[in-house]
Amino acid sequence: MRFTQSILYLGLVSISRVLAIGGPTCLSFTSTQYALSTQDTPATIWIDASDWPGVHRAALDLQNDLEKVTGKRPVILNITLSSGTTDDLPGTPDSLSAPIPIIIGTLGKSNLLKLAAQLNPNINNKFGSIQGKWEAGISEVVKNFIPGVGTAYAIVGSDKRGTIYGIYDFLEQAGVSPWHWWADVPYKSHPEIYASSNITCSHGEPSVKYRGIFLNDEQPALTDWAFAKYSNGTSSNRPPFNRFFYSTIFELLLRLKANYLWPAMWNSAFGVDDPLNQFTADYYGIVMGTSHQEPMLRASPPEWNMFGSGPWNWDENQANLTKFWTDGVKRALPYESIYTIGMRGTGDLPLDESGNIALLERIVAGQRDILSGVYNKNASEVPQLWCLYKEVQGYYERGMRVPDDVILLWTDDNWGNIRRLPAADERNRVGGAGVYYHFDYVGDPRDYKWGNAHAINKFHHQLEMAKRYDADKIWIVNVGDLKPHEVSVDFFMTYAWNTTIWSKDDLDKYRNQWALREFGSAELAPSIADILKRSSHLNARVKNELINSTTYSLTSYREAETVMAEWDTLVDKSTQILNTLPSDYHAAYFELLHHTVIASRTSQAMYINAGYNQLYASQARSQTNAMADSVETLFEQDADIRDEYHGLLDGKWDHMMSQTHLGYYYWQQPMLDTMPSVTRVQKRQVALSGLMRLTVEGSKGAWPGDNSNQCAQGYNCPPPAVPPLTPFSPIPNRYFEVSAGGPTPFDWNATWSATWLQLNPSSGHIADASSGQRVLMSVDWSAVPAGTAPTGVVTLRSSTGQSTTVSLVANHTSVPAGFHGFVEDGGIISIQPEHYSRSTAVDNVSWEVLPDYGKNLSAVSPQIKVDSRWTAGSGPLLEYDFYSYNSNSGNITITVYSAPSLNTYPGHPLTYETFFYELDYY
Ligand SMILES: *[C@@H]1O[C@H](CO)[C@@H](O)[C@H](O)[C@H]1NC(C)=O
Ligand SMILES: *[C@@H]1O[C@H](CO)[C@@H](O)[C@H](O)[C@H]1NC(C)=O
Ligand SMILES: *[C@@H]1O[C@H](CO)[C@@H](O)[C@H](O)[C@H]1NC(C)=O
Ligand SMILES: *[C@@H]1O[C@H](CO)[C@@H](O)[C@H](O)[C@H]1NC(C)=O
Ligand SMILES: *[C@@H]1O[C@H](CO)[C@@H](O)[C@H](O)[C@H]1NC(C)=O
Ligand SMILES: *[C@@H]1O[C@H](CO)[C@@H](O)[C@H](O)[C@H]1NC(C)=O
Ligand SMILES: *[C@@H]1O[C@H](CO)[C@@H](O)[C@H](O)[C@H]1NC(C)=O
Repeated sequence: MRFTQSILYLGLVSISRVLAIGGPTCLSFTSTQYALSTQDTPATIWIDASDWPGVHRAALDLQNDLEKVTGKRPVILNITLSSGTTDDLPGTPDSLSAPIPIIIGTLGKSNLLKLAAQLNPNINNKFGSIQGKWEAGISEVVKNFIPGVGTAYAIVGSDKRGTIYGIYDFLEQAGVSPWHWWADVPYKSHPEIYASSNITCSHGEPSVKYRGIFLNDEQPALTDWAFAKYSNGTSSNRPPFNRFFYSTIFELLLRLKANYLWPAMWNSAFGVDDPLNQFTADYYGIVMGTSHQEPMLRASPPEWNMFGSGPWNWDENQANLTKFWTDGVKRALPYESIYTIGMRGTGDLPLDESGNIALLERIVAGQRDILSGVYNKNASEVPQLWCLYKEVQGYYERGMRVPDDVILLWTDDNWGNIRRLPAADERNRVGGAGVYYHFDYVGDPRDYKWGNAHAINKFHHQLEMAKRYDADKIWIVNVGDLKPHEVSVDFFMTYAWNTTIWSKDDLDKYRNQWALREFGSAELAPSIADILKRSSHLNARVKNELINSTTYSLTSYREAETVMAEWDTLVDKSTQILNTLPSDYHAAYFELLHHTVIASRTSQAMYINAGYNQLYASQARSQTNAMADSVETLFEQDADIRDEYHGLLDGKWDHMMSQTHLGYYYWQQPMLDTMPSVTRVQKRQVALSGLMRLTVEGSKGAWPGDNSNQCAQGYNCPPPAVPPLTPFSPIPNRYFEVSAGGPTPFDWNATWSATWLQLNPSSGHIADASSGQRVLMSVDWSAVPAGTAPTGVVTLRSSTGQSTTVSLVANHTSVPAGFHGFVEDGGIISIQPEHYSRSTAVDNVSWEVLPDYGKNLSAVSPQIKVDSRWTAGSGPLLEYDFYSYNSNSGNITITVYSAPSLNTYPGHPLTYETFFYELDYY
């Protein structure tokens, strides 16, 4: 399973496509359209000196990145219009043979754009539609841009970020992934770049106004990594999250078309660790906030410990808190920010047990006084949020309100299930609402901080609800150390940018586009997209931190082995992709996908084998020891995979996978990775009941001899039977296993008289203590008359003289001709929800299939229609036809597996009703 450097090109990866996800495509690499950069002439970038510093900075990224893509360094013309005429501008030939300039400008800011509008009446028509809009932009070929200048490719934004996003969208199309630094996605190479004259790459206002991440729980991985990379080896006593570190984050966010950040906070203080952090964020164009529990843009508790005095308590220490918060607001005044208001106790804990609403309302009033004082304007004009996290939502429910202009930030339950969304009467609040979501969590009942365990299909559904219910002012997601969650963060931001183009049925398309953008190969993209889908789907079933040796059943329905087979298949496919990709893509593929696949597989195999180890010991199987060895090997392999990550690219990501994740004892991370307990059996002894051990599907028992799981009293039990088969059994066979209960090799064979029974194999050799053989029992139904249920008895004999039997009932059930549906097998009927027989809509709302959602195939859910409500039983209906033999005297127990989903709409709890009626087939 190790990541090897073997290179096995399946055909050279050729990239001729434009690779931006989602929006329209304006660039091409082979065309007779307008050239922007050719083999002979590099691109020219025009920008007016009057434009935003952040736009100038992004223009430098454009220059640097285009050099990497084209091999030719673009020339930047930094224009200062002294005369207000075209005299200051160089002329360009209006010809298709030479590249036209790329002109960057922000409406209302760039003097060059102002001049263009004065001289060319079409300019206002062209760009008027985005005037005054939030973060909108238009990029296109503009003929006669400024009389005398000729044709240009214009990247125009309605505001600072509107222009910056236009630049990064251009780069994404040109072959630069937003993840080129943070996940080492190589620059694609294109010697020539052209623009289509008939396509406009415009973007309106984003679907969500503030789109951001929260770096959190950043110890050990992110912190240790940053210490190694950003403190220059000096022993500063402050955390290493300085402006050099944050610049990489700001740039990533802008490339992902995000705009908002909650900085690392446990021991870190954004405004203190580097006094230039806040300035730098604003310079890049990032809106800063602080987490749900850090009011007024001050890191708490770290800054309170440094600068505060007295208790963190408004009633007891109002003057000092006011000064503390006032200083924070003064510090942030020049920059674009959103203030978190309200207050929690120190250390992210509830303020007090009683939930004193009047006190919190006084605190909020005090905070708004501070804001209006420092800003010298009405507090309602300063962006603020109140985060209804954990117990704070309870204050709201008990009647606490904040002023109408404050954004209400609803949250998930820390596990990706949104708790509450705006009801009809809350949707017209001026401040609106948003959502705080988690890809990482520290707290009760258990942390999850390692690996990516969020499935896009799940959080798409949650976020789609948020958008439909107008919770779209802020989407912020806790990304922990950031690094393991690249693939989830990418979709979160892609979706927040434009919710209209990604329905639940477009998610495969998204994954394909993502795979194509990152890895460039149209041939491999579908397989890579599939790895992304399956690995997160499998990990989202149970997070790694919560798996133990009994999570998956070792004896029923072949559950554990099916799970392992899914992982093994994934590892094989992923390894093949890794070996097929050109070597310069290996690090990116390893970081983005392969690591998750092999590391998750290793940890799950380790737990499952620990389960087998315990089970085999109780069955007196010598294979116990092989399982113990395997657990130890897998435990070391986990560390090898971590080291391999740390060794990538000469240690670029050293420490980044140092999060402990194995062997939780309580909610908090273990201080050392801990192997699950294993046990051993004596290897020089033979089991009291003899060398040959017989175990059967569906049972923890073992024969011959005594075992608590064989029968009620545990001793003198009858020989085993495997669960009966019917022609409708989803798995068309049963198994028993022959293994060693001691060190000596032996032969075994099986005999039986039932002609309809088939065994594979029917004899064998147990070569050593670590081996065992599985024997499949199947039925030739043509030899069993319908309506009969004969028992076949197999006698096993060993070369050491032991003999025992195992039996199987072949229950030849049938259903009336014409029945279509699910048929009982062994007293059970199991139906995947999308396999319904009929669906009935009510008020134009019906159940719909959510592909790849939940544990297995898919889920079903009523379409999200704002404010549609029914009483249980009167809403949209799904019907499932099934056939029962009434084997439980007419009693039917229905178990519905529902994915976690919460009552997001006050007063209307989620309900469903199951009922059944008999159809007469007799
Ligand atoms: C253009 O000139 C202005 C003013 O001198 C400067 O601040 C800015 O950084 C320059 N931009 C670029 C892209 O060099
Ligand atoms: C744009 O022009 C190109 C080349 O003339 C053509 O192939 C393409 O179909 C046109 N696209 C649209 C959307 O009109
Ligand atoms: C979202 O997609 C729609 C439909 O393609 C488009 O009109 C809109 O401009 C897009 N918004 C952004 C922010 O790209
Ligand atoms: C520290 O590291 C940063 C980023 O690598 C670098 O830009 C800076 O100059 C270094 N400072 C010192 C004092 O070496
Ligand atoms: C407020 O801070 C001052 C020092 O700045 C300290 O002397 C005083 O005790 C603090 N007040 C309270 C109520 O703790
Ligand atoms: C595994 O976890 C489950 C759920 O927490 C628990 O009930 C069970 O006892 C655990 N098994 C072992 C072997 O720790
Ligand atoms: C089956 O095994 C027994 C015991 O080793 C042996 O006596 C017998 O010959 C074997 N039968 C066949 C068909 O191999």
